Amino acid sequence: MVFRLLFIAVLALSANAYGGVPGDAEMGREIYKSRGCPICHSIVRVGGTVGPDLTQVSVRRADERLVNWLKDPPSLLKDTDMPKVPWKDEKEILDLIAYFKTFRKEINRDFLGKVSKKEAGKRLIKEYDCRSCHRIIDPESGRERFPELTHEGRKRSKAWLNDWLKDPQAVKPGTFMPTYPLSDEERTAIVEYLTTLK
Ligand code: HEC
Ligand code: HEC
Repeated sequence: MVFRLLFIAVLALSANAYGGVPGDAEMGREIYKSRGCPICHSIVRVGGTVGPDLTQVSVRRADERLVNWLKDPPSLLKDTDMPKVPWKDEKEILDLIAYFKTFRKEINRDFLGKVSKKEAGKRLIKEYDCRSCHRIIDPESGRERFPELTHEGRKRSKAWLNDWLKDPQAVKPGTFMPTYPLSDEERTAIVEYLTTLK
């Protein structure tokens, strides 16, 4: 009986509540620190500023993509500054992904249809945390290596922005810009907001 319960507990830990990736978030937290990730990355803006803030990384990247990235960053982005870590085994990577899922914030969409499109776009950019890579007005936002969007409305048309957000890989194969699963309503709102940034 005791063993049976233990077994169920172990199963629960490994298959766990973190979206099906069999990782251990507590182990992930330790690995994150001991492997020096905070030197370059922040979580909720606490930490290094070389790479993107990771608060919403598990919202913008599928588990499979995260595994592939952590295994071999240069295979996905030539000349990246992210080091290739000599992992002990793949479990370490799954633990990290489980850890990422403990601090991400669920996307609030309650305001859609209740505020103007432009305002909705502004809020969605905050929800998805586009500012983890892009500087948008706030000088504290974004990272130097990524394009600033403060004047995006001068640079790009609505049609271009719409195509870009729908499928960045189709516009520029191999780009590091994530493909977000945005609804038409969400995408239109974000485009609306971006085009007001003159
Ligand atoms: C020397 C700096 C550096 C270190 C150390 C580092 N990274 Fe990175 N990381 C980056 C950079 C820079 C990027 C963005 C890619 C680019 O522009 O080269 C990145 C990207 C990422 C991404 C993808 C982010 C996204 O939004 O798609 C993840 C996940 C990530 N790193 C996790 C880690 C983890 C986990 C560690 C520790 C094992 C780590 N990084 C260590 C610099 C670093
Ligand atoms: C992990 C980092 C990252 C995140 C997060 C991110 N982007 Fe990007 N984005 C990029 C990169 C890299 C480029 C440049 C693409 C290239 O040239 O390959 C880019 C380019 C863009 C451009 C085009 C800039 C131009 O005119 O050339 C727009 C618009 C944009 N991103 C919007 C967004 C929006 C909106 C979000 C949030 C929903 C977002 N991005 C989140 C990395 C990111």
